[in-house]
Amino acid sequence: MGSLFLTFVGLSFVILINHSIQGAPPGEQKSILPSCSLCNLVVRGIFQSFEIGLTDEDIVDNIALTCISRSLYDEEICRGVASAAIPTVRYIYNNSLVDPGNVCGILMQEANCTFSDREKLEWSIAPSSIAKPDVVQLTLPSAEMPTIKVLHLADPHWDPEYMEGSNANCGNPLCCRASSGPITQSEDSAGYWGDYRKCDLPWRTLENSVEQMSKHHLDSAYIIWTGDLVPHDIWSTSREENMLIHERLLNLVKRFFPDTPIYPTLGNHDAHPVNTFALPEITDQELGTGWLYQDAERLWTKFGLPSEASSTIRHGGYYTALVQPGLRIVSLNTNYCYTFNWWTLSSAKDPASLLSWLTKTLEAAETAKEKVHIIAHIPPGNGDCWTIYCREFDKIINRFESTVAAQFYGHTHNEEFKIFYDEANDTRPINVAYIAGSLTSFTNLSPSYRVYTIDGQRPDSSWSVLDFSTWTMNLTEANEKGPMHLPEWFELYQAKKEYALADLSPKTIDEFFSRMLNDDALFQLYFKNYYKATDNFVSEGCDEECRKKILCRLVTNMSNNSNSNVKYDE
Ligand SMILES: *[C@@H]1O[C@H](CO)[C@@H](O)[C@H](O)[C@H]1NC(C)=O
Ligand SMILES: *[C@@H]1O[C@H](CO)[C@@H](O)[C@H](O)[C@H]1NC(C)=O
Ligand SMILES: *[C@@H]1O[C@H](CO)[C@@H](O)[C@H](O)[C@H]1NC(C)=O
Ligand SMILES: *[C@@H]1O[C@H](CO)[C@@H](O)[C@H](O)[C@H]1NC(C)=O
Ligand SMILES: *[C@@H]1O[C@H](CO)[C@@H](O)[C@H](O)[C@H]1NC(C)=O
Ligand SMILES: *[C@@H]1O[C@H](CO)[C@@H](O)[C@H](O)[C@H]1NC(C)=O
Ligand SMILES: [Zn+2]
Ligand SMILES: [Zn+2]
Repeated sequence: MGSLFLTFVGLSFVILINHSIQGAPPGEQKSILPSCSLCNLVVRGIFQSFEIGLTDEDIVDNIALTCISRSLYDEEICRGVASAAIPTVRYIYNNSLVDPGNVCGILMQEANCTFSDREKLEWSIAPSSIAKPDVVQLTLPSAEMPTIKVLHLADPHWDPEYMEGSNANCGNPLCCRASSGPITQSEDSAGYWGDYRKCDLPWRTLENSVEQMSKHHLDSAYIIWTGDLVPHDIWSTSREENMLIHERLLNLVKRFFPDTPIYPTLGNHDAHPVNTFALPEITDQELGTGWLYQDAERLWTKFGLPSEASSTIRHGGYYTALVQPGLRIVSLNTNYCYTFNWWTLSSAKDPASLLSWLTKTLEAAETAKEKVHIIAHIPPGNGDCWTIYCREFDKIINRFESTVAAQFYGHTHNEEFKIFYDEANDTRPINVAYIAGSLTSFTNLSPSYRVYTIDGQRPDSSWSVLDFSTWTMNLTEANEKGPMHLPEWFELYQAKKEYALADLSPKTIDEFFSRMLNDDALFQLYFKNYYKATDNFVSEGCDEECRKKILCRLVTNMSNNSNSNVKYDE
């Protein structure tokens, strides 16, 4: 075999590996693949290496060599990421589950990229056979009506190997570990409570955060937990360690909230290999995701989910549970829309039957006059959620706008809203997704969590979100004070008060969006909170391009229309 060809194959994989190492950086919309033609070249190189009979070991060796010669990452990282990913890519290729000419269109979310056969990727779910009820104007409850408090934990990313004093400024995807290499200057040393650089949180900070939550919010009716418990060491994760992290964190929350129900979801980092959620049809022990769903089912029911949730968790990592008479939680596994999940590249229609099940579940809730809160990790409409999936999800929200009282997500690590609009009249806002900032500081973000006030307790409550507040702490300050002082948590903002909102209804959030277009001071406030007031970001300021990016994120309904939003251009 020509060495030139092997170099080509090696480079192709390295670009792909780099793409998956970078992931979709929190808050970013775009894939790091620079162009469609390069992407197609990469895909060709990878598939040719399978065709000519290279083994997984050959390919991993080749990737390691290329990684070293290009001084991209340590050999261990390239080998780790490659050997975890290649069996899945090979399986999808080998079983003709993917059209090579369609891959880049998905990876790049159609931006400038063509498909060899886009029709093959198309699917839609059957619309509900029950006619949509008339939309009744939402009336918010009067002040004396009872409310409940709900705690939202997003993206803790606990790093069991976090080490104070280790190198926080390393070249790896995750630093602040004994293995992060030598320190050349004292500023590179990892802090005691965590670090704003490429580091996840140490146990002590997570423990402190949950203790702090219990001090102030023990009266929460329940906790929603939107996934990503595992650290960003994507080259060295394992099934066993991921599940151990899962169990230890659930135990931690249970220790401080013994009587509070927890409603969890799975994040893209909770799988091993990272992002890899196989279709339920894949029963192969090595490639399948059954191990994760079975263990999630075991832990989640042990920590309080009703046993009716079991069968769908085991099937596809999703479930529904009645919280109180009148309120139902629907927990989705949106990792099936993630463009970094290799299985999204296969031509699967409605992966794990998730959206058909969602339709049926919402029909039953509507009939029973229940309201629904949707929780999941990746927000549909985000740049890394596949467009066709988002479109089908939007249709369901349109049909069930009167039943879905609110949606809650994590994954972006930022503090955000996303507004959903009427398909038939795109000036009419119909629903709001609340996206909570991460507990982890990865990267350059202060740790945070949220508390919602929700109209609740009566079976006929609207169960709409009336307000929320975000709590945070300053890692620089905590590290300066050192181990003898506990970090000081404080309320960063209350949504209604901060933005002078009458309520948090879709209509008011849409008006808030419109106000920000013309009121820069208001936008700067949103921008500050988007980054949780973390110095590095806030002091950099937000130029016109940044402003457009952050504002568009509020209103994009399909991942690929972020730059063509008519409203912003007005
Ligand atoms: C690929 O497919 C061939 C037959 O088409 C089969 O013999 C082989 O085991 C498959 N390899 C993998 C890794 O699935
Ligand atoms: C599409 O290609 C044009 C010309 O090459 C480029 O200017 C533009 O930024 C590309 N758009 C996206 C979304 O990549
Ligand atoms: C999505 O947004 C586009 C452009 O703003 C609009 O034409 C379309 O109707 C919207 N679709 C849905 C489902 O809201
Ligand atoms: C579209 O929605 C807006 C806002 O709710 C409303 O004012 C307008 O009358 C609607 N247009 C049509 C054609 O229904
Ligand atoms: C965090 O604390 C440091 C050190 O006391 C201070 O310089 C910085 O301004 C604080 N940041 C915020 C956002 O309060
Ligand atoms: C976005 O995707 C839709 C198909 O879902 C396609 O019709 C449209 O052209 C795409 N838009 C852009 C800007 O690529
Ligand atoms: Zn995350
Ligand atoms: Zn995530």
